[in-house]
Amino acid sequence: MLAGEPFLYWFGHKPRICIFDYELARQVLSSKSGHFVKNDAHPTLLALIGKGLAMVDGIDWVRHRRVINPAFNMDKLKMMTKIMMDCAQSMAKELGDLASKSKNRETEVEFGKKFRELTADIISHTAFGSSYQLGKEAFQAQHALLEITMETFLHVQLPGLNHLPTERNRRKWMLEKNLRRSLMHIIQLQLASEGSENRNNLLGLMLDACTSNEEGGKQGELSLSMDEIIDECKMFFFAGHETTSLHLTWTVFLLSIYPEWQERLRQEVLRECGRDQYPNANSLAKLKEMTMVLLETLRLYNPALFIQRKPIADITLGALKIPKGCAIVIPVPIMHRDKKVWGEDADEFNPLRFQNGVTRAAKVPHALLSFAIGPRACIGQNFAMLEAKSVMAVILQKFSFTISPNYVHAPVDLFSLKPKFGVPVILRLLDE
Ligand code: HEM
Repeated sequence: MLAGEPFLYWFGHKPRICIFDYELARQVLSSKSGHFVKNDAHPTLLALIGKGLAMVDGIDWVRHRRVINPAFNMDKLKMMTKIMMDCAQSMAKELGDLASKSKNRETEVEFGKKFRELTADIISHTAFGSSYQLGKEAFQAQHALLEITMETFLHVQLPGLNHLPTERNRRKWMLEKNLRRSLMHIIQLQLASEGSENRNNLLGLMLDACTSNEEGGKQGELSLSMDEIIDECKMFFFAGHETTSLHLTWTVFLLSIYPEWQERLRQEVLRECGRDQYPNANSLAKLKEMTMVLLETLRLYNPALFIQRKPIADITLGALKIPKGCAIVIPVPIMHRDKKVWGEDADEFNPLRFQNGVTRAAKVPHALLSFAIGPRACIGQNFAMLEAKSVMAVILQKFSFTISPNYVHAPVDLFSLKPKFGVPVILRLLDE
């Protein structure tokens, strides 16, 4: 599909309008008037992820965002870089051990799976600190629930079906109960823990902001309820796991087929972070070409396929009259390849377009919509970029890689943009 005229289509009995125009998208996403709210989530999805930050609107959203913001401030994220590095180093060691066993010091790795494991590890550690093992179990239950949800996502929703004690429903109820119990246990452990050291994780920082009483609540009262905190924990995993894993997977894919860029980035990493040293937040901040490649990967292989909003009253948007409640769909990957905005080479991999920064990469300053724009833009974008840089720096320090002959190029829309058959890569240990 190419960027073009807006069109209307039906999603079940609900109308949706798809727009491709950057100016209209900016008006919808940057509006601070409260005219546009999130589109209704599928009920099974809502049951799974609850009403975390990404799902709430209005004053509830303001309250949630105020509590969660401090956890994503750059100083706190810099402290989390060490954890990201530790997890990446441990994956690299495992892969290095495998490669060193073979005569030519190489091994085939399916990076889609590897990065799903790694990013689950990173989000468990950064979200829950010392309770990461419990957190990992909670996330495993959440992942199993997501798989059940995916199986039934496109089924017709017959009323009452979700309440029948079928085998699938009973498994779902059991997983939901375990997930809630584990998250509640972790929250109570954190609330009981003394000292800021133990609270330098996303949950701990969120709890600190919750109890700081800036909201004018009573002493000892949380500004989010226990259920809301549980939903935010689910949100960390739901919003921050798959997206980052896919971003890394597509980056490895692109660097495998553009060896000149792979070598450029390796030289930059060796120059700024050294060969054996542990990269840290300061050295990662100097990786300009790495940032360009990561942004170009997001442009070409954006994990999120659509951003959606709906107006709360009838509204005129450019020449369009949109009735209250009609969903507006912004198809990000298609807009990211619009030649009128990105130039004739929009379909090509050209990280240099980002050399003067994100806002100067295309003909409009807000052309990159990967993390959305406006008040509801991704709260985790700095986290995601730091994580991607940490992992790629460690990989480039130790290995070179090429795409495996078994690779089949088949990006598919499965909630997000996934490589259908994974990304198998031949990974080779660099000489010491
Ligand atoms: C490459 C990685 C990521 C991508 C491409 C991405 C993309 C997005 C996008 C497009 C939105 C806006 C959705 C909308 O407006 O409907 C969003 C919102 C959000 N993201 Fe991310 N995200 C990434 C990583 C993360 C991480 C690591 C976290 C947390 C650990 C996170 C947490 C959130 C949350 C909580 C929101 C809702 C913000 C709000 O509504 O105020 N994301 N993300």
